[in-house]
Amino acid sequence: MFARIANRYDLLNHLLSGNTDKRWRRLVARRLRGAIEAEGARALDVACGTGDLSLELARTAAGARIIGTDFCRPMLEIAARKASSAGVSSIPFVEGDALSLPFADESFDAVSIAFGLRNLSSVEGGLRELRRVLKPRGRAAILEFSSPVVPGFRALFGFYFTRVLPRIGGLLSGSRAAYEYLPDSVSRFPDQRRLAELMTETGFEEVEYQNLTGGIAALHLGTRRAP
Ligand SMILES: C[S@@+](CC[C@H](N)C(=O)[O-])C[C@H]1O[C@@H](n2cnc3c(N)ncnc32)[C@H](O)[C@@H]1O
Repeated sequence: MFARIANRYDLLNHLLSGNTDKRWRRLVARRLRGAIEAEGARALDVACGTGDLSLELARTAAGARIIGTDFCRPMLEIAARKASSAGVSSIPFVEGDALSLPFADESFDAVSIAFGLRNLSSVEGGLRELRRVLKPRGRAAILEFSSPVVPGFRALFGFYFTRVLPRIGGLLSGSRAAYEYLPDSVSRFPDQRRLAELMTETGFEEVEYQNLTGGIAALHLGTRRAP
């Protein structure tokens, strides 16, 4: 499914969100800056797709070593082309499954996953992998669709998300199924409170979250508990 929509993925993201997605990713990079600003710090962007967050991390922490990983080769090819045309040649984009990451334990100072966790067959399994590759006290950032917090706005957004977006997404990407899958997968995903609990249960501490654009999305942050 991701391979089918890869070519139109960026266009649709920016169009369907009115460019809000860019602001959200910039915030993730800013919130991780403290963990990766030291020269040589390492960050892994999991389910990196076309690499927007990986690039944002590289811009935010110029001395850090950023790696992007995803299991969808067409997405990674676009990411590599974008990085090269942005003049950022230092990001390796590595094929890998978020549920079995091809990296050693305790390798990274920070990990991020944007709009990826919801797609995994096990949210807890994904969280455990993020934790495994983080150094003790390393920081994790999870950007994901969530549950709008204001009732009237929630109903309005629900209509847009389930009725309007699949039509536009389907027309422009050629895959209506992918844009019907989007609201379906969000409806099955834990809301912001439950995701924070799951992070704590899988070995993170100092867990906090920030609702974005009324809770359409949420940014969760946590620190790997020291052993
Ligand atoms: C909605 S896109 C998000 C891409 C990017 N992080 C962004 O912010 O635009 C979801 C990505 O998750 C990837 N993905 C889904 N399941 C995965 C898995 N098990 N392992 C690695 N990547 C996965 C897909 O290939 C796709 O690129």
